[in-house]
Amino acid sequence: MMEQTKLAKARDYETAFGAQIPPEERPLFHVTPTVGWLNDPNGFSVYQGEYHLFYQYHPYDIHWGPMHWGHMKSRDLIRWERLPAALAPDMEYDQNGVFSGSAAELPDGRQLLMYTGVQGTDNTPACRQTQCLAVGNGVDYEKYEQNPVLTADAIPEPCYAKDFRDPKIWHDPEENCFFAVAGIRMQDESGAVALFSSKDGFHWNYVSILDRSRNQYGRMWECPDFFELDGKAILIVSPQEMRAQGLTFHNGNDVICLMGNYDRAEHQFTRESVSAVDYGLDFYAPQTLKTSDGRRVMIGWMQSWENSHLCRDNARWQGMFTVPRELSLKEGCLIQKPVKELENYRRNPVICRDVPLAPDIRLPGISGRILDLTIDVRPEHETSLESFTIHFAQDESHGTVLHYDVQKGTVCLDRTDSGFRYNIVNRREAPVRDQGGKIRFRILLDRFSAEIFINDGEQAISACIYTPQEADGISFEARGTGRFDAEKYELVL
Ligand code: FRU
Repeated sequence: MMEQTKLAKARDYETAFGAQIPPEERPLFHVTPTVGWLNDPNGFSVYQGEYHLFYQYHPYDIHWGPMHWGHMKSRDLIRWERLPAALAPDMEYDQNGVFSGSAAELPDGRQLLMYTGVQGTDNTPACRQTQCLAVGNGVDYEKYEQNPVLTADAIPEPCYAKDFRDPKIWHDPEENCFFAVAGIRMQDESGAVALFSSKDGFHWNYVSILDRSRNQYGRMWECPDFFELDGKAILIVSPQEMRAQGLTFHNGNDVICLMGNYDRAEHQFTRESVSAVDYGLDFYAPQTLKTSDGRRVMIGWMQSWENSHLCRDNARWQGMFTVPRELSLKEGCLIQKPVKELENYRRNPVICRDVPLAPDIRLPGISGRILDLTIDVRPEHETSLESFTIHFAQDESHGTVLHYDVQKGTVCLDRTDSGFRYNIVNRREAPVRDQGGKIRFRILLDRFSAEIFINDGEQAISACIYTPQEADGISFEARGTGRFDAEKYELVL
């Protein structure tokens, strides 16, 4: 009998075991792997009028292992169709993993995937990461016979061949050219983003270094993405080994937004500001695409490396993505909102207006673990509210807490009682705009996660919760006077 290829084996495995996972063991509208492990989103793009989304994938285990690419597609970014695994680590240059990358449509209608091939194991001198291609029809892909197409030798400065990864490709219609950014580690041990270009998508040249950490914003910069948003140039990177700074950055793996201007002629990026992208406990390695109606949409891995090895009891999948989020700028700040398509799945509204603030409030019909809930708080006057707290995923012994401290100007998410029995980080605070106590929360719950958008997307807070599904209570606690509105929808797909 002929030996099965690695890809055929992965496809057979996911067909056999993916279908055994009952839908109620998964979130409803958040992407999970067919079976096993998922980390970064890859190849998030439009191809022949549909959204494609690949992911870092190890089907055989709920822990990270030799990386494959899993695959899904969608017409509306909410309802996803599973496709067979797209890539397996089956060549010499990617034998230790098909790492993160991206996708674009070629002029001839084929789909181009660009990914990092890993040869050799982490932190050994022989380890090499190179950029590789595969071409396909939206389901099946063939690796390019001239892989790799970029090695660290392409960078004219000393840098590490073992840390050169995560190419994000796009087509620039003005220059009629493909570009790609990738993370690289320079001689100072910290990360940078290198820009490359290609006329045909196959032959690549180094262009410039767009920005560097200089050991200020973490060490290696992973998963860069570069795009224009409302007239500014945005570079999003995921730094490793970041150092905490106020409420904005935390130790470990962060996601930061470098905002500035881009000189297209010189291919130089000038940074003007650096900000956090998500103030939650689980958010990493996001990627964006541009929709045909011009929206910039971002999706991220809703997990942190630090706690990704901690799994739910009897879990058959591990790792999920955030809801896709539309990005915009307002007064120099990055705004994130769940894509508007989500609203098509809202059902059974429960709307409570002008509820007087009180120390313990429960509202009939406001409960659940799969929902889209908006809360608008209006203090009686500028100084009448001290704090406003929302408890969700609540029963006698559980509850996830969202606490707005008006004086401090912060919103804190606390998931201490959300089903984890490990010594992990459970609280994080986000600074919020002072509006005299007025605030709006939009909370998306989907069985295993909470995503919170404050003041129409000025801050986003994402976290996994492992709370038993029966804990579906929601209650409110206010110190001060005023009123609030609650608008709740079930989400039904
Ligand atoms: C980020 C990352 C990437 C790499 C991939 C490996 O989470 O470390 O840099 O390509 O995950 O799975």
